[in-house]
Amino acid sequence: MSQDKQNKLWGGRFTESTDAFVQAFTASVNFDQRLAPYDVQGSIAHAKMLTKVGVLSAQECEQIIAGLTAILAEIQDGKFDWSIALEDVHMNIEAALTERIGLAGKKLHTGRSRNDQVATDIRLFLREHLMLIQSELLRLQQGLLELAEQHAATIMPGFTHLQVAQPVTFGHHLMAWFEMLKRDAERFDDCAKRVNVMPLGSAALAGTSYPIDRHMTAELLGFSCPSANSLDGVSDRDFAIEFCAASALLMTHLSRFSEEIVLWSSAQFNFVHLPDAFCTGSSIMPQKKNPDVPELVRGKTGRVNGNLVALLTLMKSQPLAYNKDNQEDKEPLFDTVDTVLGSLRAYADMVPNMVPVKASMLTAAKQGFSTATDLADYLVRKGMAFRDAHEVVGLAVRLGTETKRDLSELTLDELQDFSELIAGDVFEVLTLEGSVAARDHLGGTAPNQVSRAIAEAKAFLSGKS
Ligand code: ARG
Repeated sequence: MSQDKQNKLWGGRFTESTDAFVQAFTASVNFDQRLAPYDVQGSIAHAKMLTKVGVLSAQECEQIIAGLTAILAEIQDGKFDWSIALEDVHMNIEAALTERIGLAGKKLHTGRSRNDQVATDIRLFLREHLMLIQSELLRLQQGLLELAEQHAATIMPGFTHLQVAQPVTFGHHLMAWFEMLKRDAERFDDCAKRVNVMPLGSAALAGTSYPIDRHMTAELLGFSCPSANSLDGVSDRDFAIEFCAASALLMTHLSRFSEEIVLWSSAQFNFVHLPDAFCTGSSIMPQKKNPDVPELVRGKTGRVNGNLVALLTLMKSQPLAYNKDNQEDKEPLFDTVDTVLGSLRAYADMVPNMVPVKASMLTAAKQGFSTATDLADYLVRKGMAFRDAHEVVGLAVRLGTETKRDLSELTLDELQDFSELIAGDVFEVLTLEGSVAARDHLGGTAPNQVSRAIAEAKAFLSGKS
C-alpha cells in the first residue's frame, strides 16, 4: 500500500493510489481550511449529541473536545500541517484528531458524513459573516445620516439623463442612498433566516441509523431548526445563492454611488472633495488625485455579479443529492463575503469624510434652468393649464439660453411678455431655495422633509443596534 493510500480516510475499497494530479485537482483544502473554526464547532456539538444518545462515552467526548480545541489553536497559530492527500478541511482535522487522541477520534464521524458536515460548516461561516456585513452596513448608513444631517438644506442640482433637472438638497440625495441600503439590510436579514437551518444529521443523503437528536445539535449550534429533508439538507445551496443575489444588489447600489462620487470629485463637477486617504496619485502626472476607492468598488461589482452567476450555474443541473460539484460553492461564496465586507468598510470610512463643495453645487444648480418647473407651477396656480404653462416656460428658457441668463435673471418686463399672469412675486419661486422648500410633502426634497426623514431613519437604526 502506498503512503498516499494509507493516509486516506476512505482508502479501504481502493486498490490503486490516486494520481498525484487528480489528488491536487480534487482537493479543496487550500481554500476550505478557512472553515476550520466552524468545522470544529460543528464537531464538538455532534460529539456532545452522540454522548447524550449513548454512542460515545463521556470520557471519549471530553477527549474529542480537548483534541479539537488544541487542533484549532494550532491552526489559528499557523502551526497546523495541512495535507493535500487528506483532501479537505474535514479529513485533515479528523486525521489530526485521531493522531492526537487515538480511538475516540475515529468514532467522531459516527452518524454523519462530510456531506452534511460541509453544508453545516458553510452555514455557520455565512451566519457569522452576515452579522459582520450587517454591522458594516449599519456603520455606512450612520455615516450617510451624519452627512445628510449637516446638509439637509445644502442645494445641489438634481439630475435626470445626467442633465440638470430640478434643484434638490444634498441631504435628500444622500437619503436616497440610505433607502437603498435599508432594503439591502432587509434582504440580508431575510437571507439569514434561511441560512440558519441545520443540515447536520442528514448524513450522506438518507439520514443515519443511529438514534441521533438533531434538535439538540441544532440548539447547541444556535440554529433555529434542523432541516426537514435529508436529501435537500445535503444538497441545498439556495441560501448561498440568495446571499450572493443580495450581495450583487448591494454592490450594484455601491457601484452607482461610486459612479456619482467619481463624477462629483472630478474637476469638471467639483461637487465633493474626497479625503486624500481614499485616493491615490499618478506615477507620471503629478497633478492627479484619483478616486481609487469608488472606482475599485464599482469594478468589484463585476466579480460579485459573476459569483452569483457561478453559483446559479453550479446548481442548475445537479441531481439530488450531494455531488462533488458542490465543492465549487466555496470560492465564490468566500470571495463575495470578502468583497462585500471590504467595499462596505471602505465606504463606511469614506462617506462621513466627504466634503461637499457647496459653491460649485449651487452654481451648477443655477445653470440648468432648474426652476423652470417652478415657473410652470406658478402659472398654473395663477389659472393657466399646465400644458400651456409648459409652453410659456419653454419660450422663457429659450430667451435665457440665447442671452445666457437664468430665469431668475430675466426682467419682469421680459417675463410678462410671455404671460401677463406673471407678477413681481414670481422671483420668489425662481430662487433655488424657494424651489426646494416648495416640495414640502412626504418624500419631497424640502429641507424640513429631509430633516424629518433623517429623524425617522435614526429612530429606525437605533431600534437595530
Ligand atoms: N470537500 C467537500 C466539499 O467541499 C466535502 C464533502 C465531500 N463529500 C464527498 N462525499 N466527497 O464539498
